[in-house]
Amino acid sequence: MTRPSARVATPDDWPEVVALRTRVFVDEQGVPPEIEQDERDATAVHVVSRDAADRVVATGRLLLPADGSAVAGIGRMAADASVRGLGHGAAVLAELHRQAALRGATAVELHAQVTARRFYERAGYTAVGGEYLEAGIAHVTMRRVLAEPHDGHRVPGGHAGGTGRM
Ligand SMILES: CC(C)(COP(=O)(O)OP(=O)(O)OC[C@H]1O[C@@H](n2cnc3c(N)ncnc32)[C@H](O)[C@@H]1OP(=O)(O)O)[C@@H](O)C(=O)NCCC(=O)NCCS
Repeated sequence: MTRPSARVATPDDWPEVVALRTRVFVDEQGVPPEIEQDERDATAVHVVSRDAADRVVATGRLLLPADGSAVAGIGRMAADASVRGLGHGAAVLAELHRQAALRGATAVELHAQVTARRFYERAGYTAVGGEYLEAGIAHVTMRRVLAEPHDGHRVPGGHAGGTGRM
């Protein structure tokens, strides 16, 4: 089996991204559907990983800081239950890191569900502070420093801003 790879989503991918996030967060985890999608989806950089049948099986989004801060946000990390443990989540996270660095971020932060804490530690994250509830689920804030992009190339950032569930 080839190792999963991930790439930035196109507008054509969006229905599959929504369907996957609904399966994982709404159907599986009980997040209210009205808060699953939000206004930050319009400006976030979305990344997808596909399986051998070309279905979107993992996704995540990058939120670029509106305040000039060099810390970008990552959220909505989801892998379809049928492919967990196969590296799709790690591939999405690695591409989100690459996209963040290309846009000038020097670190990324996320609100990790405590059950996924180990997944993020494997990817170089460290917990910042204690646990708290978000959408009724226990979370912990985690942060990771990013390496400089190798070619020094950067693309302009966008607006993400806001607080709360990433
Ligand atoms: C968290 C999630 C995105 C991980 O995706 P995934 O595709 O299963 O992860 P990967 O296969 O890329 O795992 C990468 C590594 O993390 C480990 N890992 C993944 N999920 C883990 C978990 N919940 N606990 C401990 N380790 C985990 C894997 O074993 C693997 O370790 P390795 O490097 O030794 O092989 C996925 O489990 C998921 O969608 N969960 C439900 C939604 C969720 O909790 N999202 C996170 C919101 S913060």
